[in-house]
Amino acid sequence: MKHLLKLEDWSTEEIINTLNLADQLKYEQKHGIEHKLLKGKTLGMIFEKSSTRTRVSFEVGMTQLGGYPLFLSSNDLQIGRGEPVEDTARVLSRFLDAIMIRTFEQSEVEALAEYGSIPIINGLTDYCHPCQVLADLMTIREFKGKLEGLKMCFIGDGNNMMNSLIVGALSTGMSFSAACPKGYMPPEHILEFGKKYGANGKFEIVTDPMEAAKGADVVYTDVWASMGQEEEKKLREKAFAGYQVNSELMTVTNDECMVLHCLPAHRGEEITAEVFEAHANEIFEEAENRLHAQKAVLVECMTDGKSRD
Ligand code: CP
Ligand code: NVA
Repeated sequence: MKHLLKLEDWSTEEIINTLNLADQLKYEQKHGIEHKLLKGKTLGMIFEKSSTRTRVSFEVGMTQLGGYPLFLSSNDLQIGRGEPVEDTARVLSRFLDAIMIRTFEQSEVEALAEYGSIPIINGLTDYCHPCQVLADLMTIREFKGKLEGLKMCFIGDGNNMMNSLIVGALSTGMSFSAACPKGYMPPEHILEFGKKYGANGKFEIVTDPMEAAKGADVVYTDVWASMGQEEEKKLREKAFAGYQVNSELMTVTNDECMVLHCLPAHRGEEITAEVFEAHANEIFEEAENRLHAQKAVLVECMTDGKSRD
């Protein structure tokens, strides 16, 4: 059974195949070619955190594929009143064909996969955001025509976005640099992944944003305080002052450097309005590509990659 629990579970070949399928589905959608590859199938979508892009792109994507998306807020599910995830997994497996879940703990996503008997797709946890990174890689390929040999630079928090970006970039032959304040680095095992797959100077985490951005082909940033960290907002504003994607930072990147942001963006914090607007075409193509990349993930997981055989 194929799940998408975290990006490091997928091989480079699986990632590239998914990007290729996403490109094809985007082409078909733009040209009015029907692709009801999941006709009659139901996707349960459990949300324990807010969402605009993830919810709407999964709902629309499932509909375009001929299937049915079922929105399940944790406020309304018994899981919100303490029903164990192990039981929820076994019950929902009898009604649904797959589950997409956005939650806090990565262990909850892993438990759904362990106890359920249907594909599980991670729609963001505190640990990672694999669907977003597949859309990011798709967008970079679209604008640059390749991934291999490019340098991605992340400015900010060693959070869920950065964890998945490290895996996505290094798995597809990009090099990766980041600037994070002390105390906000990614977890140790992600740093180990970076050292293993980013040997020969292809992986670097520093504290100086200008140093990290030097020669970058893609600059990426994300909010300073993620969902669930609202109480740390003031503390984080202090810690991340200076960790901003602004026009000064963009002077040290390569020419034609892209800027990406998973959104929602906080102008004046992690990115200036000026840089955001100068790269809005890339950022909103990236947002659109959530739809196409996730449709590819749904097809890969819900048909075991056999949809077009
Ligand atoms: N980037 C992203 O996942 O957006 P949402 O939180 O709106 O789903
Ligand atoms: N790091 C952010 C990403 C939002 C898509 C968060 O977890 O809130």
